Amino acid sequence: MIRGAVQDEMDAAEDGRTLVDHVRATLDAARSRGSAPAVTLTYAQSLDGCISAAPGVTTPISNRRSRTFSHRLRAMHDAILVGVNTVLVDDPQLTVREVDGGHPRPVVVDSRLRTPPTARLFRREDARPIVATSETASPRREAELTAAGAEVRRIPLDAHGGVDLARTLEVLAGEGIASLMIEGGAGIITSVLRDRLADQLVLTISPVLLGGVRAVGSLGAATDRRPRLENIHREFVDEDLLVQGELERE
Ligand SMILES: NC(=O)c1ccc[n+]([C@@H]2O[C@H](COP(=O)([O-])OP(=O)(O)OC[C@H]3O[C@@H](n4cnc5c(N)ncnc54)[C@H](OP(=O)(O)O)[C@@H]3O)[C@@H](O)[C@H]2O)c1
Repeated sequence: MIRGAVQDEMDAAEDGRTLVDHVRATLDAARSRGSAPAVTLTYAQSLDGCISAAPGVTTPISNRRSRTFSHRLRAMHDAILVGVNTVLVDDPQLTVREVDGGHPRPVVVDSRLRTPPTARLFRREDARPIVATSETASPRREAELTAAGAEVRRIPLDAHGGVDLARTLEVLAGEGIASLMIEGGAGIITSVLRDRLADQLVLTISPVLLGGVRAVGSLGAATDRRPRLENIHREFVDEDLLVQGELERE
């Protein structure tokens, strides 16, 4: 019921173009500009800009219908990337469950291979998750994760000590991944914005105040280089506000 209602509503926007259409058009334009893969950064936040109520806890933020929308987004991308803390805290499946469509391939950014081999994303039979790690991570952990179904890719660290995300995108492009959805958490969101690696942002804003973990940390950006959305589209899904816009990519 919910799935049908959200799809029907989003397929019937006033100007004939839905938020889904805008997301797809932005992905297409990014690919034609040479983004490989085209990247959508997306997350749900409270009115005060938080993605969880406290460190290390899962906090449901968006309403049921906007979560259905995020499953539509997942179905539009070849792969979906999260940070290792999100795997440790939320243990997400990263599948498409509430709409029709294929599952994106999971990617975990994890410099020390802390991803548990028991994580639910390894229970998927349709795709081998990619774990992007550092060149110095434990070979024993690599063997354990490979046995669990992962494909471990070793990537140099960036200047901030994390796995180099620009290089990670190149590796994913080499795997044939043409579109990537990045779902968080805060550490990854901050790195992606700081390094200007996303072509668009799709934000769900829910009318709740959390006083918890901010989605975006320090960007260290000069005032003239702050990430800024262009060609913005928005839509209410019940009380949640969905905002989509283009980001300038480095
Ligand atoms: N509201 C939402 O939409 C949403 C979505 C997803 C998650 N969340 C929430 O977000 C929270 C987790 O967020 P988080 O900030 O703690 O962790 P995160 O972003 O999921 O993962 C961050 C970790 O990834 C690793 N990493 C490796 N390379 C990195 C790089 N270049 N940039 C950033 N991180 C890199 C680091 O661990 P190593 O040093 O060990 O490599 C880092 O501590 C959870 O509470 C979860 O529920 C909310």
